Amino acid sequence: MSLLIQPDGPIVRVTLNRPDVRNAFNEELIAQLTAWAESITASSKARVAVLAGAGKVFCAGADLTWMSKMVAYTRDENVADARAMARMFQALDALPIPLIGRVHGAALGGGAGLAAVCDIVVAAEDAAFAFTEVKLGILPAVISPYALAKIGRSAARELFLTGARFSASRAKEIGLAHAIGDAVELDRIVAKYVNDLLTSAPEAVAAAKALIHDVSTLPRAEAVERSINAIADRRVSREGQDGMRAFLEKRAPAWLSGDS
Ligand code: COA
Repeated sequence: MSLLIQPDGPIVRVTLNRPDVRNAFNEELIAQLTAWAESITASSKARVAVLAGAGKVFCAGADLTWMSKMVAYTRDENVADARAMARMFQALDALPIPLIGRVHGAALGGGAGLAAVCDIVVAAEDAAFAFTEVKLGILPAVISPYALAKIGRSAARELFLTGARFSASRAKEIGLAHAIGDAVELDRIVAKYVNDLLTSAPEAVAAAKALIHDVSTLPRAEAVERSINAIADRRVSREGQDGMRAFLEKRAPAWLSGDS
């Protein structure tokens, strides 16, 4: 299996599993990752997903052996293929539960794109990042909507154009990573984030994720309207009511006490 999916209570651990090619993604891995992401709904048992890579690195991006064969494909076939990859990034980006990326070794090309569609990225202090595509004569194209949203135009102009490798601390500076740890700390930091997410109200977390997307993409007036409706909906929701009352009554909310 190119992708391992391991449920662990409310957590789902998703592991890229092509270590011999540094978890480079080909058609099969793209299809499996897309199918998994599209299978998650708001009512899924999984409340947090952790994305990691088996072996030495997180992900070496698109499989260059597979991509180089595309020269024999027609333009339409190339478009269909790029569309499949775009669908994978879109599905991961729109996942209704939080996605934590556990990045060790390297996140290059599409691997950096995978980091960009994670809500939270925990990186090993010696992890290398890069948008290497221009070094190979190609482009960080289908990852660009997500990478740009994370790192902004200024860093993208430097890093997309040079293809230069950058450190985990630089990734953190530009918003591509959120926390850095050594090999021992990495899983502990991931576990702390998982705990923070699981102790928050599940519907509120999903609503916050959707709100971030909508408010940052809608025109200002519509974004304001969307924000007004979002808080109004939460205030009257069962979960929101319980959460606010639980605080005032000094008791655990239902999503923590298991009464929901
Ligand atoms: N696609 C296909 N195969 C890849 C690959 C990719 N993106 N990245 C690595 N591999 C393969 C190598 O060809 C090698 O195959 P081999 O054992 O048959 O020679 C194997 O994986 C191991 O790679 P190697 O470079 O020896 O491993 P490493 O641990 O020394 O370095 C990386 C790991 C990720 C730093 C390095 O492989 C690399 O820079 N890969 C290219 C990443 C890239 O630019 N991706 C952008 C794609 S758009």
